[in-house]
Amino acid sequence: MTAVAWDWANFAIRWLHVITAIAWIGESFYFIALDLGLRRPPGLPQGVNGEAWQVHGGGFYHLQKYNVAPAAMPEELHWFKWESYWTWISGFALLCVLYYADPELYLIDRHVLDLPGWGATAIGIGVLILGWIIYDGLCRSPLARDERALSVAVFVFLVALAYGLTFVFSGRGVFIHVGAVIGTMMTGSVAMVIIPNQRKVVAALKAGETPDPRLGREAKTRSTHNNYLTLPVLFLMLSNHYPLAFSSRWNFVIIGLVIVIGVAIRHFFNTMHAHGLKPWWTWGVATSAFVLAAWLSTFPDTRRDVAEAGPVPARLAAALARPNFGEVRDIVIGRCSLCHSQEPVREGLAAPPKGVRLDTDEEIAAHAREIYLQAGIGRAMPPGNITEITGEERAKFAAWAMAGEHER
Ligand code: HEC
Repeated sequence: MTAVAWDWANFAIRWLHVITAIAWIGESFYFIALDLGLRRPPGLPQGVNGEAWQVHGGGFYHLQKYNVAPAAMPEELHWFKWESYWTWISGFALLCVLYYADPELYLIDRHVLDLPGWGATAIGIGVLILGWIIYDGLCRSPLARDERALSVAVFVFLVALAYGLTFVFSGRGVFIHVGAVIGTMMTGSVAMVIIPNQRKVVAALKAGETPDPRLGREAKTRSTHNNYLTLPVLFLMLSNHYPLAFSSRWNFVIIGLVIVIGVAIRHFFNTMHAHGLKPWWTWGVATSAFVLAAWLSTFPDTRRDVAEAGPVPARLAAALARPNFGEVRDIVIGRCSLCHSQEPVREGLAAPPKGVRLDTDEEIAAHAREIYLQAGIGRAMPPGNITEITGEERAKFAAWAMAGEHER
């Protein structure tokens, strides 16, 4: 039963993660649009830099923005931070449940690098920490004096990271880690720069001093990066649904293109809210990058088929040695490999669905738990029972997988 419990833990955390992320990103979109849409009619009160009238849910809202701060601080001040913190916390928990608890399934590709499970997990966590240190360092370097130069440096850093990781993890592991690094950069900025700087500003104002304008500038840069990174980070977080993208030999270029697409689209909306202009060229850029990414995704990463990997890790060897492995393999070949092989026979499939290949003994062993959930006790696979798997065969999957329950 642990496989079932584990899967439900996964659902619960994923659900939380999606909810908090929607709240955070919604808030980011709302505030950027609000900020850019502020108008300055004559007669605004002292210190007010712009205002907006909005109607929503049966009421009218009149918002005013004080550029630095109001003359007197209000008693109650709402800080926006928990949406961001919880998105990161739940995201990290999901990374643990899905990838670090079972690195051999989706993180390690022994044809890329034969890592031990703990090693892959350590590298994954290390990459998150190092990613933050490098990003934060870039933002504090002299480069940051020029916003464009900084953005280009951040872009180059992310693509280089993706490229480097293609020598360490499976394609899927690369995508989720670049996504997680971006998520860490975004929440790190909120926790370490935006909120602390804002607190310093409030403290200075309360003490009757003029706050250092640098504090506001730094926070603004980070918040702008966060806004531009929202669309790419969403793609990367959902990337386990896009095996064509992550299993391509050009997967790191595709990550770069996705960042370009996300930034171009945000730029369109930001410019529209700020100046009422519609820079249509951004859609040309986004569409071209999209088509290019789709084309690049048709070149599979062939390393997996030529490279000789080392000895089979103990956990996989144990799964191969369980009773009935031979029967399980025959069932998989008969009922699953139509779709789940490197080059699926099934028409309409360009790559194995969700990147799940079941065409070698090792792959079957690595996916024991998935096979159990999807086709043993579950009825999700084969879809519509297209290959006519029998109840008895499902029971064999379940018995074989259950025999290894203690291995987890
Ligand atoms: C007709 C093609 C087809 C056949 C046959 C098939 N699958 Fe799938 N499989 C799919 C598709 C499509 C998906 C992706 C479903 C989705 O996007 O949620 C998938 C997804 C999966 C996943 C990943 C699920 C997840 O959410 O991560 C597993 C594991 C899996 N299949 C196992 C099997 C097993 C075991 C068999 C044989 C008993 C099998 N499949 C037979 C098409 C097939």
